[in-house]
Amino acid sequence: MTTPKPPAETGSTREAAPEGTATRRTIGLAVIGGACVFAATAAVPALVFVAAPLAKKGGESRWVRTVRLEQLAEGEPKRVAVIDDRTDAWTRERGVDLGSVWLVRQGANVLALSAVCPHLGCSVNTAPVIKDGFACPCHTSAFDLEGRRTSGPSPRNMDTLATRIDDGVVVVDFQRFRIGVPEKVRL
Ligand code: FES
Repeated sequence: MTTPKPPAETGSTREAAPEGTATRRTIGLAVIGGACVFAATAAVPALVFVAAPLAKKGGESRWVRTVRLEQLAEGEPKRVAVIDDRTDAWTRERGVDLGSVWLVRQGANVLALSAVCPHLGCSVNTAPVIKDGFACPCHTSAFDLEGRRTSGPSPRNMDTLATRIDDGVVVVDFQRFRIGVPEKVRL
């Protein structure tokens, strides 16, 4: 009785395994390569998104037209809205209400004061009696008509803003400042 011999391995069978392995490896590399390309493609806009605001310079002047000089009564504070276009790295909005400022006419000049309280950022109003200046409703900081602190926890005076008169219109360099610190630091 003869023992049956296992079927002889053919050359093609022995070569099929390495070819399959190579194919799988090639496919794997292609998938990884594709994933890397996809990740890089997705990462570029994300990096631009993150980096763009950093590229924007802070503290640049923003001259905004407000009211005509003759609309201001001598020594009487008037609150005016600051309306201007707002542009960030991606969009531009027209006629946006950016905040408000207090204007006090002093003869031919105008004193402009930020309406943001330097303490914690509440909106400063006029004092109950206007000649007394300004008062913050949040923690009772008070300021005289020139924005100098007279009482309360505000760490500094109200923040003054540069002004100029263009063709009879009061133009203000609208800025924001760090709150809660004694120094006037432009943001
Ligand atoms: S926010 Fe104005 S006194 Fe505190």
